[in-house]
Amino acid sequence: MTQLASGRAPWSIRRRVVLGVVALVALLGVLIGTVSVLALRQNLLQRLDAQVQEVMHFVSSGGPGGMLPGGNDSLRGGLVVAVAADGATPWGYVSTGPGSQLALTAEQIDQVLAAPAGPVTTVSISGLGSYRVQLRAASNGEYAVGLSTAEVDTTTWTLVGIFALVTAGALLLAAAGAVALTRVALRPLGRVTETATRVTELQLASGDVAIPERVPPAEADPRTEVGQVGAALNRMLGHVESALVARQQSEEKVRRFVADASHELRTPLASIRGYAELTRRIDDELPADAIRSLDRIESESIRMTALVEDLLELARLDEGQGLVFGEVELVRLVTDAVGDAYVAAPDHEWEVVAPEPPLVIAGDAARLHQVIVNLLANAHRHTPEGTAVTVTVAEEGDEVVLTVADDGPGIDPGLQPILFERFARGDTSRTRGTDSSGRAPVTGSTGLGLAIVAAVVEAHHGTIGVASEPGDTRFTVRLPRRRAAHPGGDDLAD
Ligand SMILES: Nc1ncnc2c1ncn2[C@@H]1O[C@H](COP(=O)(O)OP(=O)(O)O)[C@@H](O)[C@H]1O
Ligand SMILES: [Mg+2]
Repeated sequence: MTQLASGRAPWSIRRRVVLGVVALVALLGVLIGTVSVLALRQNLLQRLDAQVQEVMHFVSSGGPGGMLPGGNDSLRGGLVVAVAADGATPWGYVSTGPGSQLALTAEQIDQVLAAPAGPVTTVSISGLGSYRVQLRAASNGEYAVGLSTAEVDTTTWTLVGIFALVTAGALLLAAAGAVALTRVALRPLGRVTETATRVTELQLASGDVAIPERVPPAEADPRTEVGQVGAALNRMLGHVESALVARQQSEEKVRRFVADASHELRTPLASIRGYAELTRRIDDELPADAIRSLDRIESESIRMTALVEDLLELARLDEGQGLVFGEVELVRLVTDAVGDAYVAAPDHEWEVVAPEPPLVIAGDAARLHQVIVNLLANAHRHTPEGTAVTVTVAEEGDEVVLTVADDGPGIDPGLQPILFERFARGDTSRTRGTDSSGRAPVTGSTGLGLAIVAAVVEAHHGTIGVASEPGDTRFTVRLPRRRAAHPGGDDLAD
């Protein structure tokens, strides 16, 4: 039994039942034994007393003379007789067999005569043991008869021994029976536990939310106690399953909604931008204020377009589709992207460290390109001019490792834990809207760039990590070279 909490381990049901049954049987054994032994002893003593009285009757009808040694054969077997005739020395004997007897000592006679006259009482005689004695006072003296209780005592003790043995046997039997019964009774509980354990091993956080596990019907019959537990567990599993399905459906709906909304927003955004551009062309007739407003409309619609595109992209990645796997030559992909970055941001220093091409991996070329572009854009946009950016590609066993490092000011430590979450971004004033010259940036900061990077890397079964301190910010992407096993077969496209 595993001890979960500190302190003494609690008693198991089996232990409690076994000990309880054993204690009960022991108590019953002692009770029944005591009552029976006492009743039997009482009965035997009564019979003995009757015999004593019978002997007394016989003795008194014959007078003291009838008690003389050898006087009566029926008085044998431990019979004691003592007489104290007036003035005479008391005498007495104990019969030891037919026609044979032993004279009593003066001390033994005194002990017999000390008994009260009338009722039969127990007298302990030194050297002879316990006797039931009746004393009678008559005109010619006192006489007493008695019978030994030895036989009654022996019978009593034999009975005690028999009861003790029977009780001990019953205890063993009860213990064994209780162990076997609890084992059988608790077995279904084990099966309920097994079901619960299998449920905890299910992946319920993502993907298919069905819970196929149920407690088998034999252990879910509410007419038994364990069945009630099993049935309750089954009801709970059904409840959790339907709740999970409902949640998944509503999540699905939200995702669909975001995807549809993003899609629908593209056309009006393009129109806004087009009309703003068109209006600006006739700038001769427009006041300077209006031209500035038009610039803002254009730049904001560009930013919003980027936002909508990113949202759409994330919605597609969330749905788990849209990835077109093929063979990707990574070194070429990286060199081209860095070349583009150099053209877009000549004020940064760009460097590529990569092995000789080709370095081919399985993946979606357009998405991987986006990963590199997003990381390079961050290294450009969130660092000052003159920052050196180094992109490294390396092979490590079955993986390729892509690193984008810069010696810029680093990422705010408060931001790092949520860096890959949606809309997580740093100092917005610097990256949002226009820069000091009033010119809008080519693409706006959305806080979605790294979320997309993380989603794409995850869809490739890779990992991404970041380490950042002032002067050294490093994003590390690990991708498997071969496509991870996927249901639906190999859909490598060329
Ligand atoms: N190389 C970097 N140097 C400094 N800060 C960075 C770097 N890369 C990312 N960040 C920070 O992480 C935030 C999130 O990046 P991202 O998800 O790409 O959003 P966006 O670039 O649209 O702001 C950025 O707003 C920026 O504050
Ligand atoms: Mg970005």
